[in-house]
Amino acid sequence: MAPKGSLLPFSLLFLLLVQFATANENVIDRCWRGRGNWAADRQRLAVCSVGFTGKMRQNRGRGVTPYTVTDPSDDPVSPRPGTLRYGATVLPGKVWITFQHNMHIRLAQPLFVKSFTAIDGRGADVRIAGGSGLVLYEVNNVIVHGLQVDDVRAQPAGRVVRPGGAVQRVDVGDGDAIRLVASSKVWIDHNTLSRCEDGLLDVTLGSTDVTVSNNWFRDHDKVMLLGHDDGEVTDRRMRVTVAFNRFGPNVNQRMPRIRHGYAHVVNNFYDGWRDYAIGGSMGPSVKSQGNLFVASRPDSANVTRKMPDADVAGQELHWHSVGDSFENGATFKQMGNRVRRPNYNRHQAFPAANSSEVRSLTKDAGALRCSATSAC
Ligand SMILES: *[C@@H]1O[C@H](CO)[C@@H](O)[C@H](O)[C@H]1NC(C)=O
Ligand SMILES: *[C@@H]1O[C@H](CO)[C@@H](O)[C@H](O)[C@H]1NC(C)=O
Repeated sequence: MAPKGSLLPFSLLFLLLVQFATANENVIDRCWRGRGNWAADRQRLAVCSVGFTGKMRQNRGRGVTPYTVTDPSDDPVSPRPGTLRYGATVLPGKVWITFQHNMHIRLAQPLFVKSFTAIDGRGADVRIAGGSGLVLYEVNNVIVHGLQVDDVRAQPAGRVVRPGGAVQRVDVGDGDAIRLVASSKVWIDHNTLSRCEDGLLDVTLGSTDVTVSNNWFRDHDKVMLLGHDDGEVTDRRMRVTVAFNRFGPNVNQRMPRIRHGYAHVVNNFYDGWRDYAIGGSMGPSVKSQGNLFVASRPDSANVTRKMPDADVAGQELHWHSVGDSFENGATFKQMGNRVRRPNYNRHQAFPAANSSEVRSLTKDAGALRCSATSAC
């Protein structure tokens, strides 16, 4: 029989473990993970978002159609019920999409995701690879969660069904994993994105109110583009939160590369880069807060890179670093004369953590392996 005295240390240890487990979760994950019944209340996720996307309240509740993907095949023109394209593009109304089992989907053409759609990969291992990626074109209220997207390549021009049912011709694509065009209120959370022909995530042509959180971006050259090109003045209204992501290993540049607009880059783990981490032109504002930047080598240690502007006049950059940590010689060159605040409203605001916690806050970045019957 164990002596009575051993009970005390044991319960202390238990308390410490509980503390450790919760202290290690970021504010988004803490909102839904760890609940044994997460699979019975999937739509709770919608109110766990923070940052510029705000809460995704429109994606939950009555009037949302649950839809299960059972068939990994893809017909870009007349998708069959049971396929991802049918649920994400064709099915009318608000839709919450889940996956019946693990699957690999090769998209024959870009998947045009419609408004009020949540793609929820939790509980299955969902890989979108070897074909096209996702396009959010003039849509809003979209959640993309728990997908693994890799090896996206430009597909030949062809025909594809668009939200609303019209079939249109699309040109040869770029090979982006996820591309936003003139879209707003979009939340990209817990995806693993790697090895695509072009970018992993593009936010362009007037897109705004976007949160990019808990993703793992790895093994890739051009990671994240915010702002289409130097001449695209609609991107001046762009506001993007980039939080709790892991970048690397084996990434080169654009984490993000920003033109115009504003990015709040907070509590991300930068696990090395070759060219630079944060770059930009055309007077964007970046508040870099509580990140951990670990340079790969002393000769590629510049976090920031100012790109040449197409139009030099009056394009002052405002790049500030607040509470970031730097290892291996990583250097952040601040620009502009003051920190620009995100000015979040109460549905968007969240506390930034100390950069010393970033390794643990991002340890589960990327698509999670969740079982429907236990904590995720
Ligand atoms: C790093 O930045 C400094 C100026 O901020 C520049 O002189 C240097 O060439 C940069 N290093 C690399 C490898 O780009
Ligand atoms: C972050 O935590 C460290 C100790 O881990 C502490 O020294 C530092 O002051 C903290 N920074 C902020 C901004 O609170």
